[in-house]
Amino acid sequence: MTKVLFVCLGNICRSPTAHGVFEHIVKAENVAEQFEIDSAGTAAWHIGKEPDSRSQKAARQRGYELKHLRARQVQSDDFEYYDYILAMDGSNLSDLRSRCPDHFQHKLSLFLTFGEHNEKEVPDPYYGGADGFNHVLDLVESASRGLLNYIQEH
Ligand code: 4NP
Repeated sequence: MTKVLFVCLGNICRSPTAHGVFEHIVKAENVAEQFEIDSAGTAAWHIGKEPDSRSQKAARQRGYELKHLRARQVQSDDFEYYDYILAMDGSNLSDLRSRCPDHFQHKLSLFLTFGEHNEKEVPDPYYGGADGFNHVLDLVESASRGLLNYIQEH
């Protein structure tokens, strides 16, 4: 069992998108039972909320369902429990680094290091238009495929 946690700021746009896309891909590849997947935010603002309606809409147009997801905040247990803790941007990563015990720091990385785009951060789409949400999906789809390949090879 490999446990994967996706992390962004609010846990209503980028990390639930990654959660839903990665969940979809492991189901499609018939390996869902080998994974435990969750997402969380570094901030507490949106605890208990479903993903932003713009994220849900953009995801649904590509066949991913996010409606069942609910926002939560990163908690200290997560650093021990999860095997891969994947930050959407550098700010999320530095927040995680400052909270994570030294012996679990190796679990932390930028999610897009597994993707094929030149960009290494998923831009926050919250204050922008629909294009931003589609761009999040492009980046997340590539990194999700890369992550699954990486885990299956290691
Ligand atoms: P996320 O996007 O980190 O991808 O979930 C955001 C959601 C909400 C806010 C900022 C970013 N906010 O300022 O409330």
